[in-house]
Amino acid sequence: MSVTRLNTDDRQLKTKDMKTIKVKLGARSYNIFIASGLLKELGRLLGNYGNFTKVLILTDKNIEKFYGPIVAENLSTYKPKVVALEPGEGQKNLSTVESLYHKFLEHGIDRKSLIVAVGGGVVGDIAGYAAATFMRGIPYVQVPTTMVAQVDSSIGGKTAVNLPEGKNLVGCFYQPRAVFIDTETLKTLPVGEVTEGMVEVIKYGVIRDPSLFSFLEEHLAGVLRLEQWHIERLITSCCKIKAWVVSKDEREETGFRSILNYGHTLGHALEALGGYKGYRHGQAVAMGMILATKIAMRMGLAGEYLLGQQKGLLSRVGAPTDYNIEEVKQAFELLYRDKKAIGGRLRFVLPVKIGKVILRDVSPEVIKEIL
Ligand SMILES: NC(=O)c1ccc[n+]([C@@H]2O[C@H](COP(=O)([O-])OP(=O)(O)OC[C@H]3O[C@@H](n4cnc5c(N)ncnc54)[C@H](O)[C@@H]3O)[C@@H](O)[C@H]2O)c1
Ligand SMILES: [Zn+2]
Repeated sequence: MSVTRLNTDDRQLKTKDMKTIKVKLGARSYNIFIASGLLKELGRLLGNYGNFTKVLILTDKNIEKFYGPIVAENLSTYKPKVVALEPGEGQKNLSTVESLYHKFLEHGIDRKSLIVAVGGGVVGDIAGYAAATFMRGIPYVQVPTTMVAQVDSSIGGKTAVNLPEGKNLVGCFYQPRAVFIDTETLKTLPVGEVTEGMVEVIKYGVIRDPSLFSFLEEHLAGVLRLEQWHIERLITSCCKIKAWVVSKDEREETGFRSILNYGHTLGHALEALGGYKGYRHGQAVAMGMILATKIAMRMGLAGEYLLGQQKGLLSRVGAPTDYNIEEVKQAFELLYRDKKAIGGRLRFVLPVKIGKVILRDVSPEVIKEIL
């Protein structure tokens, strides 16, 4: 699929402080645009991507309440059809996708149309998967409105829905045409959702960016007050890292993309253990980061100081800084049972210092010693 080149209008916007980050993927390359108040420019920006016969906006009912009017007004020339799902992970399934296909047909959506995903990771993942599979693939763009979506899920083209047996089991890689981030939308986000996103932000600092990590240490109060200068700075750093990792290993084939899974090996298992009704993703990942750091310390790869640095930031964003040993033991049983271990060893992303992680297979003995 060819990428429509941007016209000079984008240059105009750049001078108005819009950050642009390119996700370099050859013919599938695309831009991430970041600005406070960007929603008001959405219609004009989309104009640079060609003439779409029809536009369908997929969102959820919470987001529609806050941003439905502004998005609809801004895209009014396209006479868009708006589909607002019930909010929440419960919608991320194949029956939602099937009902969307029917809506697409009703509205005359075809391969010359555009799907606009306005929302968090749930809306983005569903929209991406529906767009990827309808008529063998139709264009879509992401307009992420949660911290998690702005730093993580909207970038990189992983699309998926859940099965009763597990999360994200049905999906594919399908890149959006562009990602439009309006940092101001975070102002209406519940505090718990900010924490969810901040854990991933801290993760980016640990895996790749010491200056992001020290920025957080110094300016966390401003970040948590959602002051736009702070937020734009940190979203931009995270998007740069995600774009860079994805462009080096789009489909997680070389293993490089898995550095993004720092804290997630144990995190995913803890979530699954609670049937996804216990710990939230961010809480579980925070515990996973602590455990991975303790493993690194045990293996002589990291020092105590690294643990303290991460605990410091995690506690300030309201995330856990410790775990329940019994739960972690059960999580490991689950990981071994699910055959996640190769030759008895589990692969972990381990931190060496702020800004550097390595992939290592960890023996059951090391894990036993820690627990
Ligand atoms: N594709 C990927 O690479 C990737 C990466 C990470 C996570 N994910 C997926 O993302 C999902 C989690 O995404 P999420 O954390 O954004 O959750 P979410 O989409 O459920 O949004 C969280 C809540 O915030 C509300 N909301 C969204 N934007 C708002 C705003 N601006 N103001 C007020 N309320 C708002 C939503 O209605 C919802 O209730 C999971 O399904 C996860 O698997 C995917
Ligand atoms: Zn995550």
